[in-house]
Amino acid sequence: MEIEDKIKKLVDKRAEARLGGGQKRIDSQHSKGKLTARERIDVLLDKCSFEEIDMFVNHRCHDFGLEKEQYLGDGCVTGYGTIDGRMVYVYSQDFTVFGGSLSETNAKKICKVMDMAMKLGVPVIGLNDSGGARIQEGVLSLSGYAEIFQRNIEASGVVPQISAILGPCAGGAVYSPALTDYIIMTEDTSYMFVTGPKVTKSVTGENVTTEELGGAMIHASKSGVAHFVAKDEEETIATIKRILSYMPQNYMETAPIVHCTDPIDRVDDVLNTIIPDNPNKPYNVLDIINIIADNGVFEEVHKYYAKNIVVGFARFNGQSVGIIANQPNYLAGVLDIEASRKGARFVRFCDCFNIPLVTLVDVPGFMPGCNQEYGGIISNGAKILYAFGEATIPKITITLRKSYGGAHDVMSSKQLKSDINYAWPSAEIAVMGAAGAIEILNAKETATIKDPEELAKYIAEKENEYREKFANPYQAAKYGFVDDIIEPRNTRFRIIRALAALATKKETRPNKKHNNIPL
Ligand code: HXC
Repeated sequence: MEIEDKIKKLVDKRAEARLGGGQKRIDSQHSKGKLTARERIDVLLDKCSFEEIDMFVNHRCHDFGLEKEQYLGDGCVTGYGTIDGRMVYVYSQDFTVFGGSLSETNAKKICKVMDMAMKLGVPVIGLNDSGGARIQEGVLSLSGYAEIFQRNIEASGVVPQISAILGPCAGGAVYSPALTDYIIMTEDTSYMFVTGPKVTKSVTGENVTTEELGGAMIHASKSGVAHFVAKDEEETIATIKRILSYMPQNYMETAPIVHCTDPIDRVDDVLNTIIPDNPNKPYNVLDIINIIADNGVFEEVHKYYAKNIVVGFARFNGQSVGIIANQPNYLAGVLDIEASRKGARFVRFCDCFNIPLVTLVDVPGFMPGCNQEYGGIISNGAKILYAFGEATIPKITITLRKSYGGAHDVMSSKQLKSDINYAWPSAEIAVMGAAGAIEILNAKETATIKDPEELAKYIAEKENEYREKFANPYQAAKYGFVDDIIEPRNTRFRIIRALAALATKKETRPNKKHNNIPL
């Protein structure tokens, strides 16, 4: 064969591979409002930066007549490229080839991508759209999944791993995304469940649709499996790019610093009056975050899940930070099982990847009740406590208002090795709130007062006395548990200063095989 013919053969084969399962199936994919595997990569990566690998891989299955059905690339497009100039490895399941199902050979392609990403210390992005295990291949497909799981585990905490769910993701297939750092689901076209609606009905009798069982909003709000939900594929991919910009390439690096156009000494008088005088009145902690962060930009993670705690990424003077804040606007910002799990996971992510943490505290305590106790608020609450205590990244804590009881200790207190702890003058750092304290401390006296007016006056007096004495930041400051009491309007500048001061922080914990967080 002449070289021209050989080159033509190559060009033809490439064209064949690019067609995946064929034009008809591509049209069907588009008709569902979905992009193809390659189109998704085009949207994700910098223009012309994609280098595809393993384009000519074929499956090796000879059962069920599969030997006659061969598609170059075997249902998964893999390779590397850049996002904002930074290298990533990517795999994108091609639903037009056997429904994007996982075969022995395309699992190997995914593993190759993950191995390369680990070797080079760069993030892995998985674009998932698959009918699960390639049924015709049986255990070979199952083994392919397990090979991927093992790599997800080994890559955890080494390089960021991000999963977009853009179609079906069911059965054991859900566990690879679940092992990664972030899951982004597309509304209407994606779903995740271990067991589908049919089996659910036959086993539990529940009648649910695919959407009700494992749609994007369900996982974003109820199970917490999805960290982000996006209205379409473009937004899903844009979310991947945005969150990556806050992360370093691997655990040995720090996140890129971006040029900051927001004055670092910007003061905002609104902050001085943002906390209501009445301690029982809620306010939205997002308003505070939006005022203090660079250009008011906050990338909220888990926006719809456990809304009593807010977590997400922001920048101060261009430096990427993780923010974790109690949300008085929802359940008074109480720590319950879900909020504890959400907070713990986020703190641990930041610690893995050297992203400093800013904690904003306004917490009335842990949620009481049988549901919470039976559900394990003890071991779940311990998770967030553990996460703060094990984290060695720069930690800055600012108490805005309430910081009561056990929850005070938990929320990145000085004793959990937080580096710089500030309090606003409105802070109430105490064992409990005034009302609860007076109820216990003055029970005998209040029992003897029969006149309701006199009783109310007595209680108000006692509560005021308590508030003056204990429900303020000065007791904690007296013992050095807070380093300074700051004027709220200066908060942005004080955080930026603290971050600069902590830039050289090096802290270690005792050597061990690995820790045993209360799971
Ligand atoms: C092989 C598959 C497949 C699979 C779909 N296809 N899933 N081929 N193995 N798992 C093929 C179909 O035969 C069809 O081929 C094409 O992909 C598109 O499928 P459709 O059914 O036409 O598409 P749609 O109506 O959109 O439905 C998508 C679907 C459905 C909901 C995913 O295909 C489905 O239920 N598939 C089976 C899901 C499943 O049970 N998977 C195994 C789970 S067990 P043609 O030639 O017509 O285009 C599992 C264990 C993993 O995954 C354990 C890991 C530890």
